[in-house]
Amino acid sequence: MNPKALIFDSGIGGFSVFQHIRQALPGLDSCYLMDNQLFPYGIQPDQVLIERIVSLCRKVCDQQAIDILVIACNTASTLALPALRDALKIPVIGVVPAIKTAAGLSVSKHIALLATPATIDRPYIDQLIEDHGQGCQLTRIGSSELVKLAEEYWLNDEFCEQELAAILSPHLESSEVDQMILGCTHFPILSEKIEQLFPQVNLVDSGEAIARRVCSVLQDLGYNSGHYSQALNQHNLLATAPIADKEVFLSTCQRIAPYQSFNII
Ligand code: DGL
Repeated sequence: MNPKALIFDSGIGGFSVFQHIRQALPGLDSCYLMDNQLFPYGIQPDQVLIERIVSLCRKVCDQQAIDILVIACNTASTLALPALRDALKIPVIGVVPAIKTAAGLSVSKHIALLATPATIDRPYIDQLIEDHGQGCQLTRIGSSELVKLAEEYWLNDEFCEQELAAILSPHLESSEVDQMILGCTHFPILSEKIEQLFPQVNLVDSGEAIARRVCSVLQDLGYNSGHYSQALNQHNLLATAPIADKEVFLSTCQRIAPYQSFNII
């Protein structure tokens, strides 16, 4: 039997991580859970988020045979990983902003973190920059508008360049920033758009590193990727609230994986 991963995010951002995982492990079964009822996470109180994330993930793990949980959301990961690891018996992998990588690449020694307003203020980030920042100056850019812009673009192909410029220009124009960490899984969806506007800034995200980590954890669990069967692959979608444009959403999801079902929990 193929191993099965539960991928969790508040919205569609987790697909940017799952794409890398799927590329590395095409035979992996998956369940994608999005907590769209509480979207966007970046403006929610911490305690509400911790309890909710743990209870949603536990519920799905109890109902389905999940082998590995991937919290494909920085806002959730920088907050709820310890609580999730206490509550669940399976391995839990999170995404954390790639500050170490960006600091290593920076020539100007000025890096930026683009994330949700919740993530940029977490003590976790202070610790990361202290431990791995290699003396770099860190500019923190927190934006929930950009998260909504990414959802809009992913779902409807609609995009407003002026909005993107208005959010980023004050921080990137006439600054020394040469590396920007995409510290929200929604933002790789806008990578090309950001690169077009700010070609001088290199974007750093953690998708590939997460995929490598999933491969190695599954291997440690005894799953050899050579033996996964793509023919028997199962993929399902779960959401916590109805989706306005359900047909468009489902057909867009097919670009990621051949999803067989969609349910509200
Ligand atoms: N995709 C999420 C993240 O990585 C959360 C976006 C949100 O719901 O605010 O932080």
